[in-house]
Amino acid sequence: MQYTEVLVVGAGLAGLRAAIGVNERNHKALVLSKVHPLRSHSIAAQGGVNAALGNHHRGVTDTPLKHAFDTVKGSDYLADQDAAILMCEEAPKRIYELERWGCPFSRTVDGKIAQRPFGGAGFPRTAYAVDRTGHVMLHTLYEQAVRFEEYSERQEMGFLDEWLVTRLVVDAGVCCGVVAVNLLTGEVEGITAEAVIFGTGGSGRMYAQSTNALINSAHGMAVAYWAGVPLKDMEFIQFHPTTLWGTNILMTEGCRGEGGFLTNSEGKRFLADYPDSQKAMEVAPRDITARNMTREILAGRGVKGKYLNLDLRHLGADKINARLPGIREIAMSFAGVDPIVDPIPVIPAQHYTMGGISTNIHCETEVKGFYAAGEAACVSVHGGNRLGGNSLLDTVVFGAIAGWKAADFVDGKAAMKQGMKAVEAAVEEERKVLDALRNAAGTEDPAAIRDELGQAMQEGVGIFRDKEKIQKALGTVLALKGRFQDVKATYRGRGMNPELTNNLELRANLDVAEVVVRGALGREESRGSHFRVDFPQRDDARFLQHTVARHVDGEGKISFSPVALGTWEPKERKY
Ligand code: FUM
Repeated sequence: MQYTEVLVVGAGLAGLRAAIGVNERNHKALVLSKVHPLRSHSIAAQGGVNAALGNHHRGVTDTPLKHAFDTVKGSDYLADQDAAILMCEEAPKRIYELERWGCPFSRTVDGKIAQRPFGGAGFPRTAYAVDRTGHVMLHTLYEQAVRFEEYSERQEMGFLDEWLVTRLVVDAGVCCGVVAVNLLTGEVEGITAEAVIFGTGGSGRMYAQSTNALINSAHGMAVAYWAGVPLKDMEFIQFHPTTLWGTNILMTEGCRGEGGFLTNSEGKRFLADYPDSQKAMEVAPRDITARNMTREILAGRGVKGKYLNLDLRHLGADKINARLPGIREIAMSFAGVDPIVDPIPVIPAQHYTMGGISTNIHCETEVKGFYAAGEAACVSVHGGNRLGGNSLLDTVVFGAIAGWKAADFVDGKAAMKQGMKAVEAAVEEERKVLDALRNAAGTEDPAAIRDELGQAMQEGVGIFRDKEKIQKALGTVLALKGRFQDVKATYRGRGMNPELTNNLELRANLDVAEVVVRGALGREESRGSHFRVDFPQRDDARFLQHTVARHVDGEGKISFSPVALGTWEPKERKY
């Protein structure tokens, strides 16, 4: 049994910033992560991070309030307005802090942090480091975290790499720790903590086509959900317009922000033909662009009937090499095309989970002492559709807040350790559960279940949804949950058992997928990324509400909760 003041689960940007926040308030943090921190999915973020720095005026004075308004409008008015305002007000502070910590942002000619246009703003607000923004931010935060680990007398930071939390332990409504498995040895251990923060990332891998790393299995969300913490707005799944045909590797929105075109089989910039993207063209919000791309392919104007072209050729070699070197490298390596001379084949694919573990504006969940931040959480700042560049921002703003709030919570109580018994009991139970899964002697192949899940989600809760499709997906997900009970394990070793890890993640993915599907079924309207062909209008009278899902008797139960309004009246979105 280990003990720490604050346990941070997940070592991507949200987790690391949370851990630093805990240290800033003079408490110790232990960071537990399924992978080495520098292999967290935050590293894959490319195009940038939004903040009203105002470094590129182009006749517009940017302000945090304008940024917040764009965020709320982009969310199709489902974002909580107080949360969006807080995030946008904090944004410049977090970006300049990263700069001070040595984050190598790209620069304007006069040495300021460079900003590029992204969807939903209408002018350059997205700070970037060429097309590797997540990469440099993650390295910067890791350096800061390690600094706390190595040089402080109190040794305020510790790391447990390659551990997986399988249970959140809650005793009398208070979080008192977790049960986790050391993936190297297979040992199941308890960790008691005064407070726990989840920054465990998204759920993209429940879809067959996703930009997400294989680690994005919704596992953290599921662990919270199983412990009684609700998930919020899970039906809102973002489809990034431009992912590489065939592999779905992200082709950053920065390609279009820098002036790239989307063209069809006739070489035409088809977005001009759709009323909602006529003006903003390639830099309309992602939900709009992804829908119009799909419509174009369905209308038979996809290239070879399959994809569209992302054309950067007119930008010229110098700009492509200077601003989008990673994109060029990926396109050459994975599609065999050099964007300097060829267009890049792209299609929309799953990219981001707008919903997540339900928290308030302070990253507090319903369970005392349990916090969440980043993509794992729904604070909620993204509502029905997240603006590109607001994801990295969410991680550093709410990561810091979660860390500070958790530290304050620890301040307010005597070191308890009374949860120890509950953690010990949970460890015993969890050892049995894991042993049973490791020795599972059923007949079902987990890889087949995972593939069928991915396909069902693509077809049932993809870009265009209707009741019949969603119901079919629900039937499939429930059937797959049933089949998972009879799963077969082929390797029974304790240590380094990726099959066991995959099965644990699949179990999580199935339950969270059920929540996505049930949420989509209940929401009989179209808002942001959730487009119901059978209910094509937004319906504020019935659905200007968050979807809340609770785990009851093994199933997802859906209810609704109010959206925090107050600053802007919901209007029709026009770009
Ligand atoms: O397109 C991108 O670079 C992705 C950014 C984001 O999801 O915020």
